[in-house]
Amino acid sequence: MTVSTTTRTREILGRLRLEDDNPGAFDGSWIAGSGERVESVNPATGEPLAAVRMASAAEYERVAEAAVEAFRAWREWPAPRRGEVVRQLGHELRRHKEDLGALVSLEVGKVRTEGLGEVQEMIDMCDLAVGMSRQLYGKTMHSERARHRMYEQWHPLGPVGIITAFNFPVAVWAWNAAVAAVCGDSMIWKPSHETPLTALAVTRIAEQVLRANDAPPIFGLVVAGREVGQIMTADRRLPLISATGSVTMGKAVGRTVADRVGRSLLELGGNNGVVVTESADLDLALRAVLFAAFGTAGQRCTTARRLFLQRGIAAEMKERLVKAARSISIGDPMEEDVLMGPLINQRAVDDMMRALETVRGQGGEVLCGGHRLDRPGFFVEPTVVAADVQMPITCEETFAPILYVFEFDDLDEAIEAHNAVPQGLSSAIFTLNVREAERFLAATGSDCGIANVNIATSGAEIGGAFGGEKETGGGREAGSDSWKIYMRRQTCTINWGTEMPLAQGVTFEVGP
Ligand code: UN1
Repeated sequence: MTVSTTTRTREILGRLRLEDDNPGAFDGSWIAGSGERVESVNPATGEPLAAVRMASAAEYERVAEAAVEAFRAWREWPAPRRGEVVRQLGHELRRHKEDLGALVSLEVGKVRTEGLGEVQEMIDMCDLAVGMSRQLYGKTMHSERARHRMYEQWHPLGPVGIITAFNFPVAVWAWNAAVAAVCGDSMIWKPSHETPLTALAVTRIAEQVLRANDAPPIFGLVVAGREVGQIMTADRRLPLISATGSVTMGKAVGRTVADRVGRSLLELGGNNGVVVTESADLDLALRAVLFAAFGTAGQRCTTARRLFLQRGIAAEMKERLVKAARSISIGDPMEEDVLMGPLINQRAVDDMMRALETVRGQGGEVLCGGHRLDRPGFFVEPTVVAADVQMPITCEETFAPILYVFEFDDLDEAIEAHNAVPQGLSSAIFTLNVREAERFLAATGSDCGIANVNIATSGAEIGGAFGGEKETGGGREAGSDSWKIYMRRQTCTINWGTEMPLAQGVTFEVGP
């Protein structure tokens, strides 16, 4: 193969135990897939980093059988002992943070601080899950019958299928995996084929932790194409499929899982809006919007894509925004001081250019940016568009750094326009007026799963439940009580008396 990498890159890959050609499946042992050989490309150079042999249906079957087997054993480990394994996983991720963060930058094109932040998100998830392992609480309730006791308990669910997207190649796995592990589930991870190396590196680290604890191989992996994905989502042995990605993908997954009456946890597209009122702290709003719109080159599901400016501050904000967007340093994400790296691949660049053509066709005005950069890799400019809410393109999620700017007169109008898109992930208002803030957070306000005040749409902490409404899919991951979806709830009623009363006062007198 033609792998052209620098010495530094080779060292990083080596320390993470990645080779030029890597096996694409893990079931406790590594299995070289018999499927296609896929090269992982550095989007900053367009050159391959290393290759992976993808799993075929046959290797998927091996991984699935192992996951069923692993679940049978793991569910009997006491939850706090499972938590101890996850604690050690967090420890190992800390040790490898530097290299893993660099690999995220190399494979996804995130700038260094964001690559490291992604690994930190995994570590935080492990810490949170360790605590959860002693807090998988059920309720007790008072029975209506004398000498009866009622309570709910939570049992491990089964092997979980985890489908992740390229843009958070490892953090989203950790949202699921750390929690599923303490809940007593095994799992099969199907990462994006754009970013298999980060998944392999993390699974290698997890493998060491499992071995050191004599734990069953609960962290299965298949790097595979769509066909295996279809087999996995249809697999009745997996009671839960957690999928992150596009709305189109999520609808297909949701349909397949519903067809077998399984559970799905969907975390799909966003089209996140930020409202800035005349009473806002504009310096704060500007800084926050710049990160939310152009950080990660606009490739977060929480990226701010729509900005609603109240008339009185609109001209000033637009001018400052355009000036600041033009000053964003674009370049190799491994270099210091670069704020924006490349898009993931050529298709993403083409999609962005096509969207901008549509924008112009629908009457939008590109205020700055709009071009691809003439250099190797998949670089584009941060782009600000003066738009109108009637433009259909503004209802779509283009996974690129395009920010649509709208103007409004009163807040009711802004909230209505804000909610008038099919997606419902993240939202924000910038205001120093308590009435405006509360209006936005009220039942009549933002219809999203995440609503912030004086914080923009991206960069959520893991402590809360993460996810969104409408076409975003309704799933919730990470903190709060998101763990419940990874377990099965059982309601238990115990009669410790000598009578046999029926609920609701029903009688059924039948002699012995
Ligand atoms: C995603 O883009 O799929 O809130 C997740 C954020 C990150 C997670 C984004 N913590 O932006």
